[in-house]
Amino acid sequence: MTREKPKNLWLSRWGFILAATGSAVGLGNIWKFPYITGEYGGGAFVLMYLACILAIGIPVMMTEIALGRRGRGSPIDAIARVVRENGSNPLWRGVGLMAMLAGFMILCFYVVVAGWAFAYTWKMLDGSLAATSVEALGQVFEQHNANPWLLGGWSVLVALLTLWIVAKGVQKGIENSVRWMMPGLALMLLILVGYAFTSGSFSEGFAFLFSFDASKLTGEALLAALGHAFFTLSLASGAILTYGSYIPDGQSIARTTFMVAIADTCVALLAGLAIFPVIFANGMSPAAGPGLIFMSLPLAFQQMPFGTAFGVLFFAMVSIAALTSAISMIEATVAYLNEKYGISRVKAAIGSGAVLLVISLLAMLSFNLLSGWTPLGKNFFDWLDYLTSRWMMPLGGIFMVVLAGYALRGEIMRDELNLPPAGYALWLFMVRYVSPVLIMIVFLHALGWLGFDPLVRWYWIAGAIGLLAILGELFAPRVRLVLANR
Ligand code: PHE
Repeated sequence: MTREKPKNLWLSRWGFILAATGSAVGLGNIWKFPYITGEYGGGAFVLMYLACILAIGIPVMMTEIALGRRGRGSPIDAIARVVRENGSNPLWRGVGLMAMLAGFMILCFYVVVAGWAFAYTWKMLDGSLAATSVEALGQVFEQHNANPWLLGGWSVLVALLTLWIVAKGVQKGIENSVRWMMPGLALMLLILVGYAFTSGSFSEGFAFLFSFDASKLTGEALLAALGHAFFTLSLASGAILTYGSYIPDGQSIARTTFMVAIADTCVALLAGLAIFPVIFANGMSPAAGPGLIFMSLPLAFQQMPFGTAFGVLFFAMVSIAALTSAISMIEATVAYLNEKYGISRVKAAIGSGAVLLVISLLAMLSFNLLSGWTPLGKNFFDWLDYLTSRWMMPLGGIFMVVLAGYALRGEIMRDELNLPPAGYALWLFMVRYVSPVLIMIVFLHALGWLGFDPLVRWYWIAGAIGLLAILGELFAPRVRLVLANR
């Protein structure tokens, strides 16, 4: 069977690595990772997070890239082609549809948080953050959100920038912008860590992130780490799969995956090293929750030498990180409209941008005019977050590993991944047994079917993996046949 020719390819070997790192490194690393680490008590959480990146993040990312490159297209079409090659049921492309929708839905609320980062860069400069207490800064944050025009204006600005870059194309838009934004981001981060090192309580921050306290290894923390591993690596949301479809044939998927995962993890840890020393130097709590970088941090900066300048640098860095993630969330949709219906990228960006603005408007209004509208106990913003990270991403992840590990003939992935035998065997073991069990645990917990703590004990997990391994080895060929012939 002839393979689909790629319509777009990254210009340089670094194209994918920079773009995928840009996608992975975002608010998840700089906003969410520090505050959940703060909430779950530091080092033990960091360790679980690293384990999840290794056990789920890396195998699933390799799978997604391989599916994207094999099928050469946006998620729906790429998966459709791969299953056609395999002779499996075309309904598998629903997994691609779900991923594409997830990316789009994430963008609808991500623009709001990214808008905060953009607005705070500005606020740091114009003096509106010159308050003297965390409470007063909390009020600044509330007032910003209570004003739909202000909140909406900044979010719309982020959306427009995102659409503009994506409309310009894979090479001229995405690759060109990540080529300078990613090194810039790395430089800003290193400067900020240097600042924390010299002006903050660096050793206290360091100890908080890396000292290990076994009593903090709880089920809840493991769940948070699992969920976050998906989000932070942009998995099951169409982003990595679509970017993967632009990788030239000879490039090693395993090596690129490791580079992206390591870069993403380093940024999360360095962001922690930039933030916590500053928080501790001012005697603040690391467990301040989602407001950590918007309420505690600006105040801490103000009390330090050259704090304003470093505060501006910090929020500018968050803004860039958010922008390079945002473009990856809508790329799948734009690529789909472009490839499938021949709509130009500009028109596809305008069309999907119109839908984006309408839906994200509801997310913006969740903080003010529509804050009372909470069907089933959540406002619209929280619904988008909940549906995507609790349901769509884990479900998409399960389907992808089942597709790659059980339904596809071995040679398709073996050929695409092109690993030495031991590496391939390890990947297969992970996607067949380890990743599905771990993802299933997150998923069942989200459904409220697991009360938890005892289940997190390692022997439960080991037992479940062992059982699945035996069943899998016994039934994988049968499963493949059934999935292929339906
Ligand atoms: N990985 C991004 C972050 O950490 C978020 C993201 C999710 C990006 C899904 C693309 C797709 O902020």
